[in-house]
Amino acid sequence: MVKNFEKELKDFVWGVSSSAYQTEGAHDWDGKGPSIWDEFTNKKSRKIRNRENANVACDFYNLYKHDLQILKGLNISNYRFSISWPRIKPNGIGKINYKGLDFYNRLIDECLDLGIVPWVTLYHWDLPQELEKKGGWVNRDVLSWMEEYVEVCAHAFGDRVKNWMVLNEPMVFVGAGYFLGVHAPGRVGMGNFLPAIHHATLAMGVGGRLLKSINPSFHVGTTFSCSHIEPYSFEEKDQMAAVRVDALLNRLFIEPILGLGYPTKELSPLRKIQDYFKPMDEEKLRFDFDFIGIQNYTREIVKYSFWTPYLKAKLVKPQHRNVLSYTLMNWEVYPDSIYHIIKKFDNYEGVKKIYITENGAAFDDHIHDNDLIHDHMRTDYLKDHIYAVLRAKHEGAKVEGYFVWTWTDNFEWAEGYRPRFGLVYVDFKTQKRIVKSSGYWYSKYINNLIAIDTV
Ligand code: BGC
Repeated sequence: MVKNFEKELKDFVWGVSSSAYQTEGAHDWDGKGPSIWDEFTNKKSRKIRNRENANVACDFYNLYKHDLQILKGLNISNYRFSISWPRIKPNGIGKINYKGLDFYNRLIDECLDLGIVPWVTLYHWDLPQELEKKGGWVNRDVLSWMEEYVEVCAHAFGDRVKNWMVLNEPMVFVGAGYFLGVHAPGRVGMGNFLPAIHHATLAMGVGGRLLKSINPSFHVGTTFSCSHIEPYSFEEKDQMAAVRVDALLNRLFIEPILGLGYPTKELSPLRKIQDYFKPMDEEKLRFDFDFIGIQNYTREIVKYSFWTPYLKAKLVKPQHRNVLSYTLMNWEVYPDSIYHIIKKFDNYEGVKKIYITENGAAFDDHIHDNDLIHDHMRTDYLKDHIYAVLRAKHEGAKVEGYFVWTWTDNFEWAEGYRPRFGLVYVDFKTQKRIVKSSGYWYSKYINNLIAIDTV
């Protein structure tokens, strides 16, 4: 059966994913302005494990050629990375930093010279700090700021970049950054959350429309975090709690884009989002993306909770579930989640094509004397998830590609450097790289050298 799946994969896109803030370092080099993550990690460092930051990270800014050589060596020919907005526009708007443009020009050229296709995310959470001072995602002006930034990128790189993603996981940067305050910029409460949701949703349409107007042949998408949701019990209150969490985590951003509106029926506290609507917003929310990027890591089991404001629901920790294993992020390993999520998104009439733009796992990696890293748990994780993706595809779902999160170990936001998700190990003291056995496995698998059940 596995063999049959593999025959269907002639044009399937296999790649790896990364992001600017998590890898580049060079936080103040060559005219780059500060981002909200520079500010947050430096000024609110107690919110980050071990008070770490990504000032240097993987030093990808200087080592990109080296890292791309390793990618090429493994014959992985699709690379998803993001552009740092404050590297291009240090103040967010206005003056362009040409040295920043040069960096991405060099990076893109190097990819193309090596036969690696660039997949560019325009916004992976590193808003210029100058824009946060003006209100960040809470200020509707973010739409025109975004437009200005996207226009520069599309004109500068669009002769070579065809694949674009407007936002990375709005639910995470809006939820963690503007409601819970655990990510940059560390704001809390509904008064920040609701306008930030609306502006992020509108921004996807703004970015998408602009890209298409500049070049209709651009392949334009945006990416969403999503997890298969299951109720803790058959009790009605748990069932209803699961419906609310599904609306929040999986439906909130895709449905308005498809013209279905925000899921306010299931999640009544969202109704107040209407206060932030301007005339014609219903229309402006809609955009016909060429593809949707799905990013999935785990499933969620949901229980009713009287104490959780608004949502009245809580996520059951893996330790309290009957589960086989979980990762260093404390996320249950549950490969069927990605299968169900693909099916869910595939069922939306307006979703034309799906790419898994992130999937992967953080486990403890141990280096053996001979510089080998046998990360069999990560390999198993990838195998099982790829298998689930291909099962959905085999059953007719429009899933056309898969990107591992992530290429090199990097800065995992509030969790610092501890969780390592990479196919390539990074020694953050020396910047030495070691390809893990999962990296070799992935390379062999996607190059049709082995079947999925071989490690
Ligand atoms: C994000 C990545 C992050 C990964 C693992 C996704 O939410 O896009 O930046 O490192 O998940 O947490």
